[in-house]
Amino acid sequence: MNVNNKHYRTIWMEKSSVFMIEQNLLPFEFKIFESTNYLDTCMAIKTMIVRGAGAIGAAAGFALAQAALTADKNNYTEYIALAKKTIEATRPTARNLFTATERVYNAAKESKKLAVEEAQNIADEDAQTSLAIGKFGNELIKSGYGIETHCNAGWLAFVDHGTALSPIYQAHKSGKEIFVYVDETRPRNQGAKLTAWELQNENVPYAIIPDNAGAHLMSKGKIDIMITGADRIAKNGDTANKIGTLEKAIAAKYYGIPFYIAAPRSTFDINCKSGKEIIIEERHPDEVLYQIGINKQNRSEKLLISAPGSKAINPAFDVTPAELITGIITEKGIIKPTEDDIIKLFSQ
Ligand code: MRU
Repeated sequence: MNVNNKHYRTIWMEKSSVFMIEQNLLPFEFKIFESTNYLDTCMAIKTMIVRGAGAIGAAAGFALAQAALTADKNNYTEYIALAKKTIEATRPTARNLFTATERVYNAAKESKKLAVEEAQNIADEDAQTSLAIGKFGNELIKSGYGIETHCNAGWLAFVDHGTALSPIYQAHKSGKEIFVYVDETRPRNQGAKLTAWELQNENVPYAIIPDNAGAHLMSKGKIDIMITGADRIAKNGDTANKIGTLEKAIAAKYYGIPFYIAAPRSTFDINCKSGKEIIIEERHPDEVLYQIGINKQNRSEKLLISAPGSKAINPAFDVTPAELITGIITEKGIIKPTEDDIIKLFSQ
């Protein structure tokens, strides 16, 4: 995607360094973070310098490739096994992270060179599948549509193009008149900060809406379709995505609005029978109690926005049951959220 007329991927690897767009600083500052070793890449995943299912997957793959590159030949096998464990402990919910570590680990057992190649393949595939998702998703969008989206499943959340936003970009490029309702997505505001910034860069008309405004806008006929991303999809179609997605899906069902998930095959976990088995990441209470923004002097500030001394509960994801999902837009086409369709998707 383009930033100031230059094409960027969210994350890439050159020699033994991993470069990523520092997402904690957006939309106020555009900066590239360089990680020279796998532990720093782990830190970047944990602290959300890099975030979003596909981008986390690419980061995890690159991290393991970095570990393989620096491993000593005397304890190579133990070193890469420990690195895999360390990388997998960074964030538990996004399936792509584990898909990537599994693939790069198998390659690393063969050679360092293959580990790096496999990590690059994962990143390239992520960009390609996102583009294909955009093509299929665009077919669902008619000119004049109001589209609601939650969190950020745009190009920042992947290596390029994104999932939920990819159909939106393609619809806009193909000349359809669309308007995007961007859920602010408390507590970290990935919608208000990241999705809004992305849409602005692509000149797509949009407005940020408070998280609790979705049902109201649906009741007023403003939303024709809702598209979100996914962090992990179970074999029965139950889908984990950013906290708040479940409430939107319930509201969409009530108002008869099609609710689509956009995700590549790397987000499906066919060893996970249903959403009940998905581990939901709990994040720090400060994300709820404080907000980070910039002041009039353009300086970043962290402000307390709640009653001092309050406790907070901060689950980062929720699970939307398959029955609330109209369809899943994948790189192979649009499928129903059923076990049959998901098994078929993996036999293609
Ligand atoms: O916690 P994050 O920002 O890494 O959350 C992941 C997400 O971006 C969303 O849940 C998204 O909708 C699906 S992954 C692109």
